[in-house]
Amino acid sequence: MSWRATVLTLFPEMFPGPLGASLAGKALARGIWNLDARDIRAHATDRHRTVDDTPFGGGAGMVLRPDVVDAAIADSDDGRPLVYLTPRGTPLTQARVLDIAAGPGVVLLCGRYEGVDQRVIEARGMEEISIGDYVLSGGELAAMVLLDAAVRLLPGVMGAAESAAEESFSAPLLEYPHYTRPAEWQGRKVPDVLLSGHHEAVAAWRREQSERITRERRPDLLAAHAP
Ligand SMILES: C[S@@+](CC[C@H](N)C(=O)[O-])C[C@H]1O[C@@H](n2cnc3c(N)ncnc32)[C@H](O)[C@@H]1O
Repeated sequence: MSWRATVLTLFPEMFPGPLGASLAGKALARGIWNLDARDIRAHATDRHRTVDDTPFGGGAGMVLRPDVVDAAIADSDDGRPLVYLTPRGTPLTQARVLDIAAGPGVVLLCGRYEGVDQRVIEARGMEEISIGDYVLSGGELAAMVLLDAAVRLLPGVMGAAESAAEESFSAPLLEYPHYTRPAEWQGRKVPDVLLSGHHEAVAAWRREQSERITRERRPDLLAAHAP
C-alpha cells in the first residue's frame, strides 16, 4: 500500500502545488505515495461556515476552534503520526523525517491566523513540529516542506544517482562541495584531487571538506554528536 499523507487545511487548493512536480510529483503519479488535502471548513456547523473565533483573554487575531478542528481530524486519526505544524514546535530534523518516511504516512494540521485552540492539540495528542525559527502565515508551506523531505526517502523515489546516503545530516556533518564540467570556469579550477581518479584521496578530501564546513557553519551539529 502506498505511503499516505493527509493534510488538513483551510486552503486545500494549494496542494499538491510544488509536490506535483519533479521527484515528488512523479512518485505521486506512480502511486508510491498518496495525498489527500482536506478542507477544515467542511466541518464548520453554522451557516456562515465559521472556523475561528476571538481569543479568550483578549489580544489580536483569531484562533481556530477546537470543535471544528477535531471534527476535521476525526476521519484521519488512524494511527499515523498526527502533526500540528507550528513555530512553537520541536524543530524538524532529518532523523524525524526518516522515521516518518519509514511509517505508513502522516496527518498534518495546518494552522492559520494566531493558530489552533490548545485543547484540541492536547486532546488528540498531536506532535508539534516547527520548520524553523520564523513565522509563516500558514502551515501549508511547512506541510509541503515536511512532505517533500519525507517523500524523496520513500523506496523507489530517488534513483541511485540521487542517493540520500551521503547527504547533509545523514551523518552529523554537512555535505562537501560539488563540481562538474567544465574543469575550469571563469578562471576557477576544480580541486585537483577530484580529477585524480584516486578514490581514497577523493573520499578523504570530501571528509575534510565536510568537517571544515560543519565546524565553520554549524558547530552545534558537531557538539551534539561529540563522544
Ligand atoms: C501566523 S502563524 C501563527 C503564529 C503563532 N501566533 C505564534 O506566534 O507561534 C499561522 C500558522 O502558520 C503555521 N506556521 C507558521 N510558522 C511556522 C513554522 N516556522 N513552522 C511550522 N508552521 C508554521 C502554523 O500552522 C501556524 O498556526
